Amino acid sequence: MYILAFESSCDETSAAVVDASDESIKVLSNIIASQISVHALYGGVVPEIASRAHVEAISSITYEALDKAGISLSEVDLIAVTNSPGLIGALLVGVNFAKALAFANNIPLIAVDHIKGHIAANYIEHPELKPPFVAFVASGGHTSIIRVNDYTDIETIGRTRDDAIGEAFDKVGRIMGLPYPGGKEMDRLASIGDKSFAKFPSGAINDDTLDFSFSGLKTHIVNFIHNAAQKGEEIPKENIAAAFTKTVCDSVTSKLSEAIDRTGLKTLVMAGGVSANSHLRKALTKMCEKKGVKLYMPSLAYCGDNGAMIAAQAYHDNKLGEYASTDLNAYATKVTKRIKK
Ligand code: KG4
Ligand code: ZN
Repeated sequence: MYILAFESSCDETSAAVVDASDESIKVLSNIIASQISVHALYGGVVPEIASRAHVEAISSITYEALDKAGISLSEVDLIAVTNSPGLIGALLVGVNFAKALAFANNIPLIAVDHIKGHIAANYIEHPELKPPFVAFVASGGHTSIIRVNDYTDIETIGRTRDDAIGEAFDKVGRIMGLPYPGGKEMDRLASIGDKSFAKFPSGAINDDTLDFSFSGLKTHIVNFIHNAAQKGEEIPKENIAAAFTKTVCDSVTSKLSEAIDRTGLKTLVMAGGVSANSHLRKALTKMCEKKGVKLYMPSLAYCGDNGAMIAAQAYHDNKLGEYASTDLNAYATKVTKRIKK
């Protein structure tokens, strides 16, 4: 079946067409209009600007996605759209556009959860991957350990109590004067820095939960940099990046190792923008080899926000037969109520 999917929860507007079946999810097009250069001027995503940029991009990328896929709108079997969680104004652009397109053309519409979408990015390149498994979703807005019971049934078993990992990467990058978003550049700098140059506080909460806290780590580093500056000391950025990244990798590895032991599951899946981090990929590969766990991660193109991952999740959600009606809304945090067709 042909699925046309939209993603507009943060600062990427994306429209994708996939040809999905139980055997494979073939991505025919996955157009992404990134707003990074606009938000870079402000050092972070400005919600109002994001909403306006989605409005400007969404119509043209839809026709670009259909053109590239070589199909017309009348051939689309299902339309899918992210409706939570995310920036409310940004989500509403995708939701209203998808609703108009679906109802004007009499095509069923499915509302997709963004987190499930990130996990589903893995089904595109790894058709052999099947639930149950443990997923680690880390992006600019989310950091969660999830027990994926089935394609449509997920359970959060650990989460950050404050900052997401991507947010911590971006904020530390910002204080070091790196361009927004800092995650990618921090990754590069960490490769050339000395990770043993300083010891920073762990982001893994020292209790019996699978929860994280990254705001203490972030504040510690901000103070560390300020104190050094007051003393007139110059700390090489690459050393901060390396020691910070090592702390993040150790924190994540320890809680994921515990999650694997507790669930007894032998498959781990990485997802979200931060899963592009080369050091985290290496650390989790090593941990999984040691524990005899199979690790899946998306290629870099499918780590960040994109429409194809929303289409991949919609393929599975479609089997529940729960379609959205004209009153479909967007939710910054809540999951939407759906109606039977
Ligand atoms: O999933 P995503 O595209 O958007 C959200 O849903 O938030 O994730 C974006 C986040 C940003 O914080 C960005 O800095 C981070 O992913 N990121 C990275 C890397 N590439 C992107 N963080 C660490 N290392 C990277 N290589
Ligand atoms: Zn995301």
